[in-house]
Amino acid sequence: MNRSGNDSTSQPQSDSPDSTTGGNPVPWWRRGVVYQVYVRSYADSNGDGTGDINGLRSRLPYLAELGIDAIWVNPWYKSPLTDGGYDVADYREIEERYGHIDDAFAMIAEAHELGIKLITDLVPNHTSDQHAWFQEAISSPPGHPSRDRYHIRPGKGPDGSEPPTNWVSVFGGSAWKRLDDGEWFLHLFNEHQPDLNWTNPEVRAEFESILEFWLDNGADGFRVDVAHGLAKDPAFPDDEEVAVLLASATRPDHPFWDRDELHQIVRDWRAILDSYEGDRMMVAEAWVNSQDRLALYLRPDEYHQSFNFDFLQTEWRAPDIRAAIVDAVTNAAAVGSTPTWVLSNHDVVRHPTRLGLPLDTDWRSWLLDGPHDILDADLGARRARAAALLMLSLPGSTYIYQGEELGLPEVWDLPLDVLDDPVWEQSNHQSKGRDGCRVPIPWTRDGESFGFGDGPGWLPQPASFGELSAEAQAGDPASSLELHRAAIALRATHLVHDEELTMLDTDDHIVAFRRGSGVEVWVNLSGAPIELPAGDVLLRSVAGATGPLGVDEAAWVLPA
Ligand code: BGC
Repeated sequence: MNRSGNDSTSQPQSDSPDSTTGGNPVPWWRRGVVYQVYVRSYADSNGDGTGDINGLRSRLPYLAELGIDAIWVNPWYKSPLTDGGYDVADYREIEERYGHIDDAFAMIAEAHELGIKLITDLVPNHTSDQHAWFQEAISSPPGHPSRDRYHIRPGKGPDGSEPPTNWVSVFGGSAWKRLDDGEWFLHLFNEHQPDLNWTNPEVRAEFESILEFWLDNGADGFRVDVAHGLAKDPAFPDDEEVAVLLASATRPDHPFWDRDELHQIVRDWRAILDSYEGDRMMVAEAWVNSQDRLALYLRPDEYHQSFNFDFLQTEWRAPDIRAAIVDAVTNAAAVGSTPTWVLSNHDVVRHPTRLGLPLDTDWRSWLLDGPHDILDADLGARRARAAALLMLSLPGSTYIYQGEELGLPEVWDLPLDVLDDPVWEQSNHQSKGRDGCRVPIPWTRDGESFGFGDGPGWLPQPASFGELSAEAQAGDPASSLELHRAAIALRATHLVHDEELTMLDTDDHIVAFRRGSGVEVWVNLSGAPIELPAGDVLLRSVAGATGPLGVDEAAWVLPA
């Protein structure tokens, strides 16, 4: 193991000078732009319809040109892909449809050469049922020590034919499945994702070793999946609260969400990260019910950051947006962290579509239930451009989901027979699931899958993807791609040297603040154009616009 930081794939710290800390360097992750890659849908190098690591490697120059600081790769490990790779069969091997472990190492090294960090996804709450541990557990008799790595228990009722608890899976249906020998195993997600038992010392030791494996091979950080779910109530009580997709606990004594015991696990991981040179980091996917509870994950010996999903879930109303910003900035500062900003990811409806729906529409159910004619796609696209300028101007780090820079909308009308997300089946066809945000990326105007690969992709793309492709947008100053490139470049020169934000006193329907550099950010959510302050307009979300700031438009201004 090399903890000296001298291995060839480790990057030197990419520090930025800092006006708020008197010029002291700050770690890259505090203010970075992180680009999320869902490998399966990014770029297909061998024409089999599935994206792969070599496809991603071929797009690294594009990402460098975009100006990002880091890539977060969704799980790329060996997996039957019953939940898009969040069902890991081997944490030290790459799924063969995506390539080989050497491709992953090469990709990390090439990214580092371009100055791009690599965050890999850690999935500690559950494995795949194809993982060697689960196979050993189910081929061993009840009581065998291999069963203790999972939650495998006798059922209730005289013949044990009822599940051990009434817990409901996040994807729908009982969270327990019965084995042939009569015992039951817990799966908070799909039935191919058995939950690990984190009270078992072997589980803890194995994950520490997995962390070391990826750190030794150049990983700069981990995005930790279902960080709020690792600990379960050892009494296994029944519970009335149903687990819903991306659920969060609504009270402190929940039997499986956000339990206090999980924090010791995190501290042990943090000690490992801290023993490596370079700024290695962990970001938690923790859905918890209050900022006070979230702060516990961000104590100095726990996670470096946590995703802030409030921003994503905030409606396009100025007072709501202002509150979400102030809360996130204040709460992160209180624990010495910086906020994270997310508008889209592989689990939610893409925001150009969300923002084109009437306020307060339940976008998850709208996918299936409609009515679909309430969508105003042009309005959504306009707001998405303004939202991009808003997000990229905020202090902290920004997570961009692949295709977001192209302004891709949700493909909400995927035919039902192509759906792959387990949510569709497990919800008894009540919820369409997350495939619509996972449609392969269009790289070129033409071609069977618009340059994603040589043949059709694993999900069909709409014809409109041709004109949204990277090729069609590159060089067009009015495009979403060029807006993102310009914003990320200006962010690097004007917005990452401090973490200060002062809200400006404005009309209720406007979001306006000043950053430490003096740059003012204005977003107009009122029904009429507004005057901008005098000064240099650095960027506007409507290309070529001049004069007053239009409705649903954003601007960065350096006041005179
Ligand atoms: C991931 C989902 C996944 C689930 C189970 C989530 O938090 O983002 O895509 O289905 O964890 O691993």
